[in-house]
Amino acid sequence: MGTHSTVAAEALRNKITSHTARVGIVGLGYVGLPLAVEFAQAGFHVVGIDVQASKVDRLNAGESYIQDIPSSVLGPLVAEKRLEATTDFSAVRELDTINICVPTPLNKTRDPDMSYIVSACEEIAKHFTAGKLVILESTTYPGTTDELVLPMLAKNGLKVGDDFFLCFSPERVDPGNPEYQTRNIPKVVGGVTAACTEMGALFYRQALERVVPVASTTAAEMAKLLENTFRMINIGLVNELAMMCDRMGINVWEVIDAAATKPFGFMPFYPGPGLGGHCIPIDPFYLSWKTKQAGIEARFIELAGYINGQMPHFVVDKIQAALNDRAKPVKGSRVHVLGVAYKRDIDDVRESPALDVILLLQKLGAKVTYSDPYVPSIRLDGANLCATAVDGAVEQADCVVVITDHSDFDYAGIHDKAKLIVDTRNAYRGRKSDKIVLL
Ligand SMILES: NC(=O)c1ccc[n+]([C@@H]2O[C@H](COP(=O)([O-])OP(=O)(O)OC[C@H]3O[C@@H](n4cnc5c(N)ncnc54)[C@H](O)[C@@H]3O)[C@@H](O)[C@H]2O)c1
Repeated sequence: MGTHSTVAAEALRNKITSHTARVGIVGLGYVGLPLAVEFAQAGFHVVGIDVQASKVDRLNAGESYIQDIPSSVLGPLVAEKRLEATTDFSAVRELDTINICVPTPLNKTRDPDMSYIVSACEEIAKHFTAGKLVILESTTYPGTTDELVLPMLAKNGLKVGDDFFLCFSPERVDPGNPEYQTRNIPKVVGGVTAACTEMGALFYRQALERVVPVASTTAAEMAKLLENTFRMINIGLVNELAMMCDRMGINVWEVIDAAATKPFGFMPFYPGPGLGGHCIPIDPFYLSWKTKQAGIEARFIELAGYINGQMPHFVVDKIQAALNDRAKPVKGSRVHVLGVAYKRDIDDVRESPALDVILLLQKLGAKVTYSDPYVPSIRLDGANLCATAVDGAVEQADCVVVITDHSDFDYAGIHDKAKLIVDTRNAYRGRKSDKIVLL
């Protein structure tokens, strides 16, 4: 095996450094499409594989469906045949590298749903041959790459580190962030063996600015969970502080701004209507699920999860109290929600707390409308709710609630027309007004 393996490694290394390697990206969503574009721009031939034919068709037509990737960037790459997509996994046969960027949600009992990784790896394994580099990028519990992915790829008698190379590299993309994107976010990568780490690092160095190798797949998997758990717990802390400050009549926003002037040892986090998105509310539960098996309860995670989960209720209580103060019962009141995406200036509503707030308000008998320049309609309990224009809706509303502080909203104009504003994001920072109720 030895000599043959060295030949396999050497051949792959040469293809990577000469940019003649055929790069495959499995899963062309928020993570996979930007990665595919980076490698195509670096001069590689990139083949995207996705189970959704609609995405494959749009990509092959040069049309982007991801906000951070303009069609003006994607189109020429497709036209020059640097980037193509397919639903057919037999393309794996011709590939030299394969990045797996499929979803890793939680199932109904809040346990990791590994079915997307398993099904992608099963398909890859059918066409897998020696000489390839495989990198899992989906966020997951420590141990996934070694315990779940490795046995599926090694079953043809191929030896990892010699015949093929396997790594984990956490995806850190921050949709809507104009400063940090796939290319300039440092890339952590850990392989099953030292040769795997080296190959993975070599690969990313061809297209990304900074690569951070670590000694194992589990360290790379855990690093991602630390990052997201850190955020989740700190957000839980300020959300709890917001509820305490509310009870004590203290402006939590002013408190955080004051604390943030400390030049060391403090990092500001801000309260809000609850956690949203695909990462922060979900990823820490991958860690707590895994540690439970090792007999350790992840108590910070459970507690922060509980507190963050209370926030939509806290916001609805605030709305109810503010309406009561104006002698308006919530039942029958018109409430207009500004922003339903899970964060500013993006179009993603996954896990968005706006959906919880709207459902809770509807249950209390409020008539709820919403505006969001990025989200034309949302699904709530099986029903569709369409966005309305800001103007008429704000004037008619008994209460306007800022849930997502998109930059496009005309906050001053809205303030002038609104009767009451519950601001869960401090969008009216510094503005003194009897109409505004802060979180
Ligand atoms: N979106 C983010 O901001 C972000 C940030 C960091 C990490 N992540 C992680 O990256 C991973 C992917 O997330 P995403 O936001 O890109 O998800 P996404 O839903 O936008 O994209 C996933 C894509 O995978 C495809 N897919 C599903 N099963 C497949 C299969 N068996 N074979 C091929 N394709 C398949 C889907 O059709 C979809 O296009 C997740 O683990 C997520 O936690 C996401």
